[in-house]
Amino acid sequence: MKNTFQKNILCIGAGYVGGPTMAMIAYKCPQYKITVVDINHERIAQWNSSKLPVYEPGLDEIVKATRGKNLFFDTDIDKGIKESDIIFVGVNTPTKTFGAGAGMAADLQYWEKTARQIREAAESPKIVVEKCTIPVKTALAMERILTSKDNHISFEVISNPEFLAEGTAMEDLEFPDRVLIGSRETESGIKARNAIVEIYKNWVPKERIIESNIWSSELSKLVANAFLAQRISSINAISALCEKTDANVGEVSKAIGMDSRLGSKFLNASIGFGGSCFKKDILNLAYLCKTYGLDEVADYWESVVKINEYQKERFVLNMLNSMFNTLAGKRICLLGFAFKADTGDTRETPALSIAKRLVEEKAELVITDPKALSNAMIDLDGVNGITYEPDPYRAAAGCDALAVMTEWKLYAELDYDRIYNTMAKPAFVFDGRNILDHKGLHKIGFNVFPIGSPPLTHY
Ligand SMILES: NC(=O)c1ccc[n+]([C@@H]2O[C@H](COP(=O)([O-])OP(=O)(O)OC[C@H]3O[C@@H](n4cnc5c(N)ncnc54)[C@H](O)[C@@H]3O)[C@@H](O)[C@H]2O)c1
Repeated sequence: MKNTFQKNILCIGAGYVGGPTMAMIAYKCPQYKITVVDINHERIAQWNSSKLPVYEPGLDEIVKATRGKNLFFDTDIDKGIKESDIIFVGVNTPTKTFGAGAGMAADLQYWEKTARQIREAAESPKIVVEKCTIPVKTALAMERILTSKDNHISFEVISNPEFLAEGTAMEDLEFPDRVLIGSRETESGIKARNAIVEIYKNWVPKERIIESNIWSSELSKLVANAFLAQRISSINAISALCEKTDANVGEVSKAIGMDSRLGSKFLNASIGFGGSCFKKDILNLAYLCKTYGLDEVADYWESVVKINEYQKERFVLNMLNSMFNTLAGKRICLLGFAFKADTGDTRETPALSIAKRLVEEKAELVITDPKALSNAMIDLDGVNGITYEPDPYRAAAGCDALAVMTEWKLYAELDYDRIYNTMAKPAFVFDGRNILDHKGLHKIGFNVFPIGSPPLTHY
């Protein structure tokens, strides 16, 4: 069959970024053929099935509308490279766990393998787009790898970092605050940049497409995540002070958020941020600063991660102190395990470290979550003393305490009278997301421990 598409676009990496972003491009640009490939064959099979590997509101519908028409999921990476004009790279870039920079620097092995594979398989010029989050100056390394084989094929590397947030990925992709496209400021660089602008212009207003030099673009992604995480750590640090002073962090957050210079988003105190990106990207930024000899700058950003760890430990210690200094043998229901609502993703979820700490204290855990239970079982494989229960009412029955880990709307809407009646007494609620009606719960009979405001107890 003759290919009648205007352009062939490939995405290497069919994860939380590759799948949804390419589905949106396919949906908005029926004139392009989009192929998404991955070394993980099982993941590709899931993308081709009725149960997608990623849960995102709205994703199923868009994949259904495009799959088999102009969106394809495949395992033949070399073929995809040969046939494409533009290659997005959306592979994972986790924190390095070994050697120099272990625990801080980005592990670029997946990204580098991809660059080498593109170099080996390409038979015509390609625009290679960095979609994954990488350290500033990675494009330089990518260019060096791509051009290290003397085959006269030209490659142009573009930075187009992804700013979607899990849980709202489809909305973020359809109506992005901005799309950032960075390139070399050469004639061929700008031509390649324009080719990527052309894609987004199909649905993103021109004024929301920012063009920049490639290094600014690479760095902006790390900085955006660092700033977002910094706001969470800032309000969480203040929540600790509120608890000592009878101030209420919700009121403080409202008061400061109404300052138009600050804005109200990302000012909810909680058990801390999670997800695959914030921690790794801040540590990556801090490591970069260190490698450039900027130790004070590195320390500044690392403190954002330290406050996040402190907040989780503080939550556990608060549970311990409030429940008469022992959790041994006590049954605790964790409401939620995903790192945030509307996703099944549990990467770096604060619930994981809190669960492990509670088990260390010899508590018995019952974990419930509408989307993340299978990931929770994998994350906690080998940890004893944990039951997994999809029904929150059954999960809570017989427990001494509830601890809200994820801000799922459904947890704010449960029948807490019913739950209270089935729990051991005294019954405790530790609201790690401040989503419950604390006064109402107290009236029912619970001892209620919010984050960043005084507890409501019956003793
Ligand atoms: N998850 C997010 O919310 C988010 C948001 C913005 C940016 N990012 C960035 O996007 C990148 C991808 O993140 P993700 O969450 O989609 O990761 P992911 O782990 O969900 O997906 C990455 C995929 O790449 C595949 N892969 C790895 N090496 C490969 C290779 N050599 N060839 C083919 N496929 C390969 C893996 O099998 C995996 O399926 C990361 O750099 C991340 O920092 C993530």
